[in-house]
Amino acid sequence: MTRPRLQDRIEAARLQREAHGRRRVRRVVARRDGVGCEVDGRWLIDFCGNDYLGLGQHFAVVDALQDAAARHGASGVASHLVSGHHAAHEALEQELAQWLGYERALLFNSGFAANLAVVQAMLGDGDVCVQDRLNHASLVDAARLAGCRLRRYPHGDVEGAIRQLRGHPEGAAMIATDGVFSMDGDIAPLRTLALVARAQHATLYVDDAHGVGVLGPEGRGSVAAARLDATQVPLQLATLGKALGGHGAAVLGDAAHIQHLEETARPYIYTTAMPPALAAASLAAVRLARREQWRRDKLQESIAHFRAGAQQRGLPLMPSDTPIQPLLCGDDRSATAMAAMLEERGFWVAAIRPPTVPEGGARLRITLGTGHDRLQIDALLHVLDQARDRAAAPRPAAEPA
Ligand SMILES: Cc1ncc(COP(=O)(O)O)c(C=O)c1O
Repeated sequence: MTRPRLQDRIEAARLQREAHGRRRVRRVVARRDGVGCEVDGRWLIDFCGNDYLGLGQHFAVVDALQDAAARHGASGVASHLVSGHHAAHEALEQELAQWLGYERALLFNSGFAANLAVVQAMLGDGDVCVQDRLNHASLVDAARLAGCRLRRYPHGDVEGAIRQLRGHPEGAAMIATDGVFSMDGDIAPLRTLALVARAQHATLYVDDAHGVGVLGPEGRGSVAAARLDATQVPLQLATLGKALGGHGAAVLGDAAHIQHLEETARPYIYTTAMPPALAAASLAAVRLARREQWRRDKLQESIAHFRAGAQQRGLPLMPSDTPIQPLLCGDDRSATAMAAMLEERGFWVAAIRPPTVPEGGARLRITLGTGHDRLQIDALLHVLDQARDRAAAPRPAAEPA
């Protein structure tokens, strides 16, 4: 029998990752206080998290979590369709639907699961899912799992999307796109995509994981910022684990779409509901996000300040008006070396390498939040400038043996 041994395959893959400098290691955070955190006994300023509005540690959010946990316990108990659907879930779904302008919302344990659910429940054999090439991995996997055809167009290329749709005139069609691209920070051309979807009888699905809370009036996200609504974008994803400082996600749509998901989507049906205490925390966070415009204003000021400082120093930032401000490094080793230098100086910035980004697109993914102040941003710019120069400096010749 010549069956390959899984152990050999795993070992070969590990060696290959090591040879390419692509090992991925977790770091242990011992403590958090605002944007500060303790890692390996050192205090770092976190410039890579997604708690853009600083709500994750807000006293009202934590208070809601503690209060609901004391009353309802720590468990989700069962799936929503068995006995797990709690009044706290119901209240959060209603608040999200009302905020984002949809008939209904449906909660999921993660954005990843929600994306799998939407594409799998809506499309199947003979259908087509047309996606931006830089979409989040969960959308790509969702189309693969759904068994439909997955067709990808070059980043932001609406003509490419039209070509793909015209090439597949039979079967149902969906255009799925990130609203804000998670590793690039730029925003999808949503208005044009909505026109294309209408002309091609396709459903537009916007994954607004990084836009909700941050962009648009009342923080309603990239769809509202583009002056679109539920008629043009029938399905939308909002995540609770980023700007809303919690955990989980919700899909928004009209009653018919949501009922279909609720009754047929496997990642919805066959999983335990999120603990009601998490839903209560997110409800408090949504109310704060809606009400406290100053958080978005401060974030926008920080983004403008950071970009102006980077431009003055000639740092190669990618074009982005959102809290995600990537600095292109090109090769993996420069990205990891710069991240290590930043850490030495007290800043935590993630080096993002392929396959998360395309080959040659390694970068520092710098994220800004309401919790960062000007001094911290100026200090980061100063250290980025030095790290860039050090990473670019020729390495000293090896000592003769
Ligand atoms: C664009 C996008 N969609 C979906 C997800 C998945 O969301 P979650 O972290 O809630 O699983 C992410 C998170 O990284 C994301 O960036």
